[in-house]
This record gives sequence, structure tokens and C-alpha cells, in this order.
Amino acid sequence: MAILTVNGRSVTADAERTILEAARAAGMLDIPTLCWYPQLPTVGNCRICLVSVEGQGKLLPACASKVADGMVVHTESPAAIENRKGVLRLLLERYPGDHLINGGRAQPRNEFEQYVVRYGVMPTPLAQRDLSLRHGDERPGDPMIRHDMSTCILCTRCVRACEDIQVVGVLDVGQRGEHTEIIVGADGDPDAAGCTWCGECVRVCPTGAIFEVMPRERFAPEQVRHPDRVVRSVCPYCGVGCQVDLHVAREVVLRVTSPDIELDTPNQGSTCVKGRFGYDFPQHRDRLTRPLIRRGWTREGDRWVWRGPTGPDRRGGPWRSIEDEGQTAKPAGPPRSVGKAVRDLPLLERLDLDIRDRVATPAAWYAPFREATWEEALSLVAQELGRLRQQHGGDALACFSSAKCSNEENYVMMRMFRAALGTNNIDHCTRLCHSTSVAAMQRALNTSAASGSMREVEHAADVIFIAGANTTESHPVFGAAIKRAQGRGAKLIVADPRRTELAARADIHLQMQPGTDVALFNAMLSHIVAEGLEDRAFIARRTREFDKVRASVRALSPDVAAKITGVPADRMRQAAELYAAGPRTSTLWAMGLTQHANGTDLVSSLLNLMLSCGMIGRWGAAMMPVRGQNNVQGASDVGAIPFVYTDYRSVKDPRVRAEYARVWGVAPESLSLREGLMVTEIVKPESGVRGMYIMGENPIISDPDIAHAERWFQALEFLAVHDLFLTETARYADVVLPGSSFAEKTGTFVNTERRIQLAHQAVAPPGEARSDLAILVELSNRLGLETPFQTAADVMAEIVQVTPSWRGVTYDRLEGAGLQYPVPTADSPGTAFLFDARFPTADGTALFVPVEYAPPVELPDAEYPFVMNTGRQLYHWHTGTMTRRSAGLDQREPTPVVEIHPADAQQLGVADGDLVRLTSRRNSMVTSCRISERVARGQVFVPFHFREAAANLLTNPVLDPYAKMAELKCCAVRIAAAAVAVVAD
Ligand code: SF4
Ligand code: SF4
Ligand code: FES
Repeated sequence: MAILTVNGRSVTADAERTILEAARAAGMLDIPTLCWYPQLPTVGNCRICLVSVEGQGKLLPACASKVADGMVVHTESPAAIENRKGVLRLLLERYPGDHLINGGRAQPRNEFEQYVVRYGVMPTPLAQRDLSLRHGDERPGDPMIRHDMSTCILCTRCVRACEDIQVVGVLDVGQRGEHTEIIVGADGDPDAAGCTWCGECVRVCPTGAIFEVMPRERFAPEQVRHPDRVVRSVCPYCGVGCQVDLHVAREVVLRVTSPDIELDTPNQGSTCVKGRFGYDFPQHRDRLTRPLIRRGWTREGDRWVWRGPTGPDRRGGPWRSIEDEGQTAKPAGPPRSVGKAVRDLPLLERLDLDIRDRVATPAAWYAPFREATWEEALSLVAQELGRLRQQHGGDALACFSSAKCSNEENYVMMRMFRAALGTNNIDHCTRLCHSTSVAAMQRALNTSAASGSMREVEHAADVIFIAGANTTESHPVFGAAIKRAQGRGAKLIVADPRRTELAARADIHLQMQPGTDVALFNAMLSHIVAEGLEDRAFIARRTREFDKVRASVRALSPDVAAKITGVPADRMRQAAELYAAGPRTSTLWAMGLTQHANGTDLVSSLLNLMLSCGMIGRWGAAMMPVRGQNNVQGASDVGAIPFVYTDYRSVKDPRVRAEYARVWGVAPESLSLREGLMVTEIVKPESGVRGMYIMGENPIISDPDIAHAERWFQALEFLAVHDLFLTETARYADVVLPGSSFAEKTGTFVNTERRIQLAHQAVAPPGEARSDLAILVELSNRLGLETPFQTAADVMAEIVQVTPSWRGVTYDRLEGAGLQYPVPTADSPGTAFLFDARFPTADGTALFVPVEYAPPVELPDAEYPFVMNTGRQLYHWHTGTMTRRSAGLDQREPTPVVEIHPADAQQLGVADGDLVRLTSRRNSMVTSCRISERVARGQVFVPFHFREAAANLLTNPVLDPYAKMAELKCCAVRIAAAAVAVVAD
């Protein structure tokens, strides 16, 4: 440690710190910097941060000079100030600063101009200068990011941010001498350079030379620079849980930033393209602003009565079914330079329609509805839920809660269904996400969440094993952290049938046949055991029944597994040895592993591998099921699943029931001891469910068997949907309740590393739309359950009462980086990693569960020769409800595609952009081709975001026996060039 004096103040700092870091850590933030930026490699070339140090003959760069004991620093000495003026004068020689000569000095436009004004430097008028303004690549026509390089000061922050934080390397410094400029790839084409539109360059640029397009299109520059307010929230998309600041003007969100680079937030200032640019959907013209009631419902006296059509027309409407829409032609996707032949850009423009109108709610969809008052809508919902309960019992009802909604909203929803309606039929999209992980982790470890943290993987793991997770597209900020980890020397092993970005970067890519993961993991374990590489001490101390697993994997050597998986045996051996050697190996997985009809077994075999090598319970050896939605972890934690209350406490336990009954003020007998139905069980003829309440989910696109689901929802006796838009599901509702988007609510969300974070309301819901919490509280009260909450904080106060592992949580404590649960007491700092001493099982040990390899339910054959895999794209989210209504995102991926390997495309006689028909044993649909080497030969990839080519028309709805997960990742299809006429809706 060194003790130095900065501007007369004593400052203590680690001897490895720079003067700048020491000063900033002590809260002295005003040493000017241009080339330096937190977390970027220091280049120390702009010289604006030079400070005087007593006893030194020359000024020292604060960003690049280490502290020393006894050092005396003056940051604003006359010499330092004179130097800064010189630096600024030089930079201004090529900067369009005429507006700073006169009145503009009162309103500097950016960080750089603030220094110009602060140090009183006057620019030379443009007309009197010798040097011209700078040039550089401009990204003309880009919907999200453009450049005006005349204001570039060549600080190179953007180049380093792209290379060192996002690890993409799109930007570079081109030319030399006075012609030096910032360039985009080799030819100015960001697509060709692999840009992901994350906007990291926008964030770090001190002059606005790199800027966001969308705010400038809608707001005056002054408004963008000086919003009415800036409100902290949490990104509404993936489970990384990036913190974002919402800038508000004229009561709408005008832009998103994420400034907390030096805080311990999950994103430390970064976002991906969705977080930074996918914020405009709440303002889409499709937003529901008043409740809707299906025509046919009339109020007679104090009762609602259905007087509309019966039979198949009961819930009909003037629209095509998803199945029918699947048969129509689609425009080709925009060109991609990566893995695609470059085609003409104007292809999209040739279509005589706004591409977003294809997803915008068609006007005809509103025809079966009339606008209603809240009193009408809520009284009808309360009446019908109450009637069905009275006539058929609580289990005739079910709800889909939402992983997009806050913990408080999910809690009130499950409280209402359990205590007011007497059923445990409560579930949400976790069923189609990590339910198999939860089943496997419960079986082995009696836990339901990740053991570790993203920061731990980034900074401490020696080996990172990623199975079935396309992290750079599905969880991009975490994906970038993994790339940074590789940059510091961590080894990367990726098991994935696709050659994803991380697979291409991996030290070992295990490109197995889809659905053969058990064979792969068992073979790795077989080799580890054969070579004696297992962690015997850990196995003996911390686990049970290893012998059973050892016996079960013995015969499945890598040589045997090679025939099943298609992965060379040597590569499996190499991966196994690397995994076991660690010494700190982190294990990550996502839906590529979980979305199988034997997903629980797939995850179990991975857990066996992890436990055998003792790769859990140590910093750097993290177990991380990477969560999908931004609150899928929290929705489960607060009990929006059929088997448990909060904290995963069983609904079957009468003592647990009594505790909740007491807090909720109801008789214990009114709470059902029977576990409820899961999402995939509810949508079945035999479920007995007659009425549903759906909050923020769109099962008609996400259900594993869409054609069936669409018919099932049509046959319901009553359906209430609570959403932002008239979605494909909402169009079948009796009542549609307009809710609130992420920007319009206060509440908490749990990310993939168990971090509870607080989001604040930035704007009001539009029109008469209400906050989701207010809707649920009122409905709950109308159903006769006393629900006194006025605010989300009131709800949290009740959650912590019934949730031991959250007992120390308060809203005040969540400000900043949030808290990772368990937070059992008011002074607990939270828990960054779990299981260092014991597992939460009865005897504290983990259980090995032997798993035999079984082939996927459906294998390719002569009739259906391709294996179809489904998943996310970088620019879209789940059923597309939000991202397809976000202007920038939608322009990047406006249409559905199927990715096909070039050799397969050649054999099929199809070219990039051609229409093809995909047919499985269940259904068929038409989409356009994207030729891509990301898929292996014999495999195709279909994103699941598009209603006009819905992937789940084709998928196999067979279910995992434990978690009731469907086989979404693997089904057999055939492909043929499609001959259909383009049909404009
Ligand atoms: S574009 Fe901005 S961040 Fe990049 S070098 Fe120029 S001024 Fe710096
Ligand atoms: S990584 Fe996830 S949470 Fe972060 S900005 Fe992107 S979508 Fe949002
Ligand atoms: S900020 Fe220190 S040299 Fe540029």
C-alpha cells in the first residue's frame, strides 16, 4: 500500500494503482482524460491527464504512472493546466468547433467540449485553419449506429472498446500521419467486419463522432443531451440482467445508456444490441391502451352473459391460423456477409410494404373486440374465474405467469391463484427453458440456481466448458466476458452441433450430432475414470453413489461414443483431460442442452462430469445454467411454478402451507396440497383446464405444438390475456388487459447469477394501460383475497417474510449492484458463490445419478433426412412480440430464415434467399434460405421468433418425463424448394 497526497488530501492506494485510479477511488473524478477509459487498456497518448508530482522534473500522465509512497500530486498545477490547453488547442485544429467560439461555450455538446470550455481554449475559426476536418467510415444508412468522423479526435477508445471489451475488432485505425482515421473493417461494411451493433463504441466516444441514430431522428440534439430525467432499470431481455439507464424526454424513453462501468453490476457499462437499441417497442403504435372485451359478452343486470356465436366461431377472427400463415411466401432476409454470398441490398426494398407491417398487429385482428372500461374488463374476468372455480373446482383454472414480469408481480399472481382460486396450476416459460436443469439439479444437489457468478467465470476460471449455449448471441454481454476470459488465457471447450462464434473460437469444439450429448459427456467421464483423472478426495467427501455412475459409463469409451456423436474420439479425450485438469473449470449450459425430451438426463450427465472432477464449490469452478429471460430465475424463486411456494418450498407440505395461509390471511384448507400442472400439461385435452389467465406470454408461438395449441386455446371456456400488444394468443381472448412494459414499472428481477436487482419506473403506461402490479392487486381483491399492497416495495416486504433466503433484502439495499441471494440477514452482503462446504441436501452431499445414452426420439431417415435445431437470433427475442416492434432490431432481421450448410444447399439446388418448404412428421412451413457454415451438413437451424414461419409447427412435442420439456432442439425434416406465390397480408 502507498500513502500519497493528491491536492492536499491523503490517499491510500495499492502500489499497483495509477495516480488516476487512486484519485478516482478516493472520489476525485476531475482529472481530465481522453484516451483513458475505465477497463480499457491504457495507451497514455493523449497527454491531457498530465499532472505535477513534487520532485519530478516533468509532468506525469496520471493514467499511466503508478503511485508511490509519499508522492505529492497536484492535478491542477499551472504547468498541468498549460499542458492541457496545448493538447486541446491541437485537437481543436481539426475539430468543427466554431459553435464554441461564441454563445455555444455555455452548452458544450460532449465530454471533449466540456474540457475545451473548462480550460478556456478558443478554437480557430474553420475558415482560418490549414488542416481539413477528419474523415472516416460513416456507416451510411445504418438504422442504429452512424459516424460523423469530422468530430473524431483519434482517442482510439472506440477501437479498444470494440477489441478489448466486446472482443469483436470491427474498428481500426487506418492510414497514417494527417490522414489517420477510424475505419470499419477492411471496406467500411460493418456486416463484413462482424459487427454485432452492441454500441460499445457509441458509449465510449467522447465527442459523439460515433452516435445512435434513433434518438436523433425523434428528438432535438439539446433534448438528447439534456433529458428530463435518467432512471435506472434492468434490460428486459436476457438473463444476464444488464443494468440500463433510461433517458426520458416528453414522457417517452429517448435512449438507453449503461454508465456504471466501475460498479460491480452484471454488465459493467456494456450492453448488447437488444439492451441498447431494443427500447422503442413500448412506443409502438400497436400498444394496447384500453381494455378489450370480445364482442358477444353483454352485461345483463350485474352478470356478464355470452350472447355471441358458439362452436368453432366462438373465438374466431379474421386472421390466418399460424399453420396457414406458415404456408405463405416470405421475402428473403437481408444480406449477411458472414457465411453468405452477398446479394443486392435493394432486395427488401423491392417489396412494396413496410416490412414491420408484417408483424404489426393487423387492423382486422381488433374486429372481434370492443374497447371497454377497466371496471367492465376486471368484473368480467373476476366473474368468470370465480364461476369456473365454483362450478368445476380450482383446478379447472390455470395461469401462465411471466418471466418478463417482476418478482413482485409474479408473487402476487401466484398468491392470487393459490389463495383466491385454490389451484397450483401456475407456471411460466421456465418450462420451455431450464425446467430440465432444475429437475436435474434438484435431483443431484437439491438446488435450482447457478452456484457461481459471471464475474467468476470471466476472471477466475482456467477452463470454461460450454454445452448447448450460443452465448454470444443469446447472452451477448456474458459472451463477451467469456471471450475476455479466453484472452487472459482460459481454455474454452464448446459442445454444440452448430459452429457458433464461441465454437469457432474454442480451443476444442465438440461438434456432435444433435441429441447425443449424453454419449459425449459419458464418454468424457469414461475416459477420465479410465485415466484416473477424477477428483477422488472430492468424490469421497462431497458426493454419494459415484460407483454407480462409474459402472454405467465404463463401456462407453470415446471410441464407442465417436460412432454415436460423430466427434473424433481423440478430441473427446483431449476435452476430458482439459476439463479434469482445470484446476478451476466452470461449466455452462443453456437451451441447446435443456430443450430435449431427455433434457433432465442430458443435464444429469453433465452434472456427473462436473461432480466427478470436483468442479463446483470453489471460486472459478462455477456451475452455471445460463438463464433465458430477464426474470425466469426470479419468477421461479417467488413460486410461479406448480410445485412450490417461494424459496422452492413444497406445496405438498402442510407445515409450509400453514405458514403461507397465515401470512395471506386465508384458511390453510383453501390452499391446495396437490401439485399443479405444468405449461406443457395444461395445454392438453385431458388437463381439465377450462379457463386461463395469461400474463405476458404468447404460447400460440412458443408452445411445442403450435397447431394443437391454437385449437386448444380456441376451445377454452374463458381466456383472459394481460399483455402489451394484441398478440397471436391475445387475439383469442375474451378479455385483453393492457399492461405495462419494463420502462413503466418499479420492481425487482433476478439474473442468471441469483442477483436481485431493482428497476425503477421511468414513464407512465400509455393511455389507460395500467401497471401490471395494479391490475393483479385489483383482480386479487375482486376475487375476495385481501391484497393490500400499494407499491412493489410493499410486496417485497411480504416476500421476504415467507422467503428465508431473501430475508435480508430491502429496496434500499438493492440500489446499485443489487444482491446475490441467499441474503439471509439484514447485514448479509449476499452470496457470490455457493456450496464451498456442503450441498443443500439432507446429508450435505451431492448425488450421482447414472444416465444411459438413448438416441433422440426422432432420427433423420430417407424421408426426413435433415435434423432441425431451433433457437434465438442476436437481434430477436422469443416470440418476437417486443423485438419485432423495435425499429433497429427488426431492420437487422426482418424476416424468417432457415440456415442451411452450403453443400446441402447445393445438393438441394437452392440459393441464398430462395424459398424452401420444411416438412416434419407433424407439419410443414415455408421460409427463406440463409446459406451458412454455422450449421453442420445434414442439419438446419430455424429461429423461433417468427409467426409467419413458426418453428414450433414442426417440432416434436414429446415430453421429458421429469420436467415435461418438449423435444424442441431436435426433429427430422425434409427440405424442398418451395413453389408458392408471394402473398402480402
Ligand atoms: S470515433 Fe470517438 S472514440 Fe473513436 S477515436 Fe474518434 S473520438 Fe475516439
Ligand atoms: S446481454 Fe442480455 S441483459 Fe444484457 S443488454 Fe443484452 S439482452 Fe439485455
Ligand atoms: S488520458 Fe492519460 S494520456 Fe490520455
